[in-house]
Amino acid sequence: MSYKVLLVGNGAREHAIAKKIVENDGKLYSYMERENPGIADISKKFVLGDLSDFSKLDVFKKVDYAIIGPENPLANGISNYLEDKLNVPTCGPRKEVARIESSKIFTRCLMDAYDIPGNIPYTICSSIDDLANAIKEFGMEIAIKPDGLTGGKGVRVFGDHFTTFREAKDYARELLTKNNEFLVEEKKVGKEFSMQIFADGNSIVPMPLVRDYKRAYENEEGPNTGSMGSYSLSKHTLPYLTNSDKEYALDILRKTMFALEKQTGTKYRGILYGQFMKTDDSIYLIEFNVRFGDPEALNVLKLLDTDFNKLSMQITDGNLKTAEFSKLATVCTYLVPNGYPESPASAEEIQIEESEDIDLYFASVYRLKKSIRTTKSRSIALVGTGDELEDAREKIAENISKIKGNLFYRKDIGSLL
Ligand code: AMP
Ligand code: GLY
Repeated sequence: MSYKVLLVGNGAREHAIAKKIVENDGKLYSYMERENPGIADISKKFVLGDLSDFSKLDVFKKVDYAIIGPENPLANGISNYLEDKLNVPTCGPRKEVARIESSKIFTRCLMDAYDIPGNIPYTICSSIDDLANAIKEFGMEIAIKPDGLTGGKGVRVFGDHFTTFREAKDYARELLTKNNEFLVEEKKVGKEFSMQIFADGNSIVPMPLVRDYKRAYENEEGPNTGSMGSYSLSKHTLPYLTNSDKEYALDILRKTMFALEKQTGTKYRGILYGQFMKTDDSIYLIEFNVRFGDPEALNVLKLLDTDFNKLSMQITDGNLKTAEFSKLATVCTYLVPNGYPESPASAEEIQIEESEDIDLYFASVYRLKKSIRTTKSRSIALVGTGDELEDAREKIAENISKIKGNLFYRKDIGSLL
């Protein structure tokens, strides 16, 4: 059966989802904020609009199912709209349970209330006095977090973003002008990993583990970005994790899915992605995301052997079975405009020589006549695949010079483990 599928979003993550939908014989319909040339070229029809303007989705009411790429529309209730108003089964959680990403305070409290392991000691603050008390309890080694969605840019960590009480207070004051609460967590030190699962509210199916690299420059230096790349291994785990670490993290995700239903009465249906940290003593949950990771989606979708459209339909039906992934390694490297993220050069032409050896995904670029141009955000993601990590890295090294423009990338993705 050839499913008609609506895809919402327009980044490299969505380009990877789009390719998979079409590769598995789906007919692609897309709703994008900005035209992604890669998605546009393989869509039967696409509509451009604000992703929070759900009324524009009405023209897609005949699709078999919808899948949502980014978190903002999920937090704003796009799945509720599609399911309740248009009768379109949707792979992506409803608003009530999407709070697990859009409110970090909700998440920490839920983990406490349902005894979910991996919670980080925290305090909910609504004044500078509360911040001072939190510092009395935890010391200066804290992370300060706004409560809403901030596109990965709201978290400030001691040592990385601030060092003095004054700086912590300044940030807290700034947060209090926007919201009456913010979150303070104990700072943890360790290695992070991304665990994504398919979830239908009844059972879960794990995907290969991925490590992403958020800093702009090699050796994890420089400012935080949306991510500069990621890798996964043929064994689907990561070098610094044991089997029991994996089970521990998976258990956190499973318990969270059930806790969400108990708390809200709504089943969690879609992708659930936990960002975890392994420290010297345990595994901690840094944050939940209610969607595929970007770039983690690019690593895992490249390996997915099970039909993606059938899998998504199973999720919407609450009938999830299994998913198979090739035992290969992947490296994803982002090419970004020179100056990114602070002062990126934009509107510059990118020349692309396509190659069978590598997968290419458009991120934030636009098409002017026949040329592809940069914006101020990440431009292109390349995914190299091979039997082992070194082979995947080599694919990137051999092919990346085929993309020419005023761009840079990190050469150490997959070497710095
Ligand atoms: P989040 O948006 O919550 O994932 O935070 C963004 C990044 O900040 C994470 O990927 C971590 O690198 C860092 N971070 C967040 N919370 C903590 C914490 N409690 N301790 C140490 N680092 C953290
Ligand atoms: N890999 C980071 C994110 O998708 O939020």
